[in-house]
Amino acid sequence: MPAEVLIAPSLLSANFACLADEIKKVEEAGARLVHIDVMDGHFVPNLSIGPQVVESIRKVTDLPLDVHLMIDNPEKYVDSFIKAGADWVSVHYEATPHIHRAIQMIKAHGHVEAGIALNPSTPLTVLAHLLEEINFVLLMTVNPGFEGQTYIAQMTEKIKHLKQVLDRRGLEVKIEVDGGINDELAGEVVRAGAQVLVAGSAIFRAPNPTEAFLKIKKEVDKIAK
Ligand code: DX5
Ligand code: ZN
Repeated sequence: MPAEVLIAPSLLSANFACLADEIKKVEEAGARLVHIDVMDGHFVPNLSIGPQVVESIRKVTDLPLDVHLMIDNPEKYVDSFIKAGADWVSVHYEATPHIHRAIQMIKAHGHVEAGIALNPSTPLTVLAHLLEEINFVLLMTVNPGFEGQTYIAQMTEKIKHLKQVLDRRGLEVKIEVDGGINDELAGEVVRAGAQVLVAGSAIFRAPNPTEAFLKIKKEVDKIAK
């Protein structure tokens, strides 16, 4: 049986003045993971939210929180975000000379899923000595920093290649894809090997986020059958 595919709505595209209501919409649609983008204005040219907001979100939902750290030297902040309620944490390979340490820090909490995120131009070979250490790889399918960008077509090959490497090595590491995902692309990335689909604008910029979530889910379910 194919592994379960999760669709993780990204709150970056939601209305920040009423996050609790926005989360409720995707909860009702059946979301089982919520994606939260953290940006520092250095690693990426944009600013978003910090641990205090994650703490507030933690209080309004029981869904696991997938915190994507697009910040330099993430090891400085990993503990704060986990304390605030993160259940999954990804750190960018490009953001620290001490990626292994950052992963160890996440894993020290025991219950938290640890992931490494890669920019579109970062080759998969950098993961060679890290794959055994992690629970998921987040492949950026746009350049990080902003919602609403177009999926980079070459990333489908990258997903397939990573899937092959993981299968060859017999590793149960999930592949998460992030950037430009919508109902039209969902089938393609799942067939390539993605197991977690982040979607921001396709869900929260749609007139009806609940329906938009279900539209993506329908495409995913077609493949699972
Ligand atoms: C981009 C973020 C994404 C973003 C996705 O840097 O990491 O999570 O919110 O938004 P869409 O789905 O609109 O590309
Ligand atoms: Zn993200």
